[in-house]
Amino acid sequence: MKISGKTRVCGVIGDPIEHTLSPVMHNAAFEELNLDFVYLAFRVRREELREAIIGARSLDLQGLNVTMPHKNAVMRYLDEINSTARSIGAVNTILNDEGRLMGYNTDGVGALKALEENGITPNGKKLILLGAGGAGKAIAFHAAREVEELVILNRTPQKAKKLAEVLRKEFNKKINGDALSTEIMKEELRDADILVNATSVGMHPDIDQSLVPPSSLRTDLCVMDIIYNPLETKLAKDAKAVGAKVVSGIEMLVYQGAASFEIWTNHPAPVKVMKQAVLNKLSELGAHH
Ligand code: ATR
Repeated sequence: MKISGKTRVCGVIGDPIEHTLSPVMHNAAFEELNLDFVYLAFRVRREELREAIIGARSLDLQGLNVTMPHKNAVMRYLDEINSTARSIGAVNTILNDEGRLMGYNTDGVGALKALEENGITPNGKKLILLGAGGAGKAIAFHAAREVEELVILNRTPQKAKKLAEVLRKEFNKKINGDALSTEIMKEELRDADILVNATSVGMHPDIDQSLVPPSSLRTDLCVMDIIYNPLETKLAKDAKAVGAKVVSGIEMLVYQGAASFEIWTNHPAPVKVMKQAVLNKLSELGAHH
């Protein structure tokens, strides 16, 4: 790595942040394209977010990723927010455009791109989304554009219902929100094409948990889990066992990162290199990190 007086600095802010895979992924991409950029992780405490953003502007950082717990709170310190990010209510990417801080959300684009790059076209399909948290919302906004029918199921049903109502108004399609009950899920899955898990169920250390009864899975259902720790969740294993097509959480991680990379550098992201860097890091860390 060559650092010069002109090196542009990007990074990720969050708390906790030490387990982030983003530095490995983005630095591999900068290196691949020979860009004079570097990417670092910054632990920013909740109560110091404002100072961090003021500092980012003063230090002329090129861009930032924003993760827990700042995705919503950061919005008030930015100069402009992209309309989708505003609707989602969360920013995961900041671009410093000659002193103007612009907020974007690449989570939804990343998820949709992950599906498409794996041969799954949501266009005209019925998609079941589990989860209406930060990631769920971002995916819902992008999926709603493409699909024929969207069903959002969430443990807290009001969140799913409210989100569905907003999306129905905006997209004028069959979009419904409901409780995440096994009964409802079974019923909805009967004629669904795509299932996306955007809840944290199945994440390390609860690796043998899944919200979906294996008996509701079918060969012709496409399943994406946004969890990448473990690399293969219980849901992914169950789906593979019935011969369903499965997209792992790594794909979404890489494609949301790729979208951020393109915002900061204006270069097409080397997604293969980014994915390999993440996989190498994960195997170096062992199955769980
Ligand atoms: P993220 O930014 O990763 O989406 P989040 O906003 O905290 O994180 O959302 C977590 C999601 O996982 C939510 O949809 C949450 O459901 P609630 O809205 O009811 O909290 C869901 N979730 C977390 N634990 C769950 C569990 N044990 N069963 C079902 N859903 C769960």
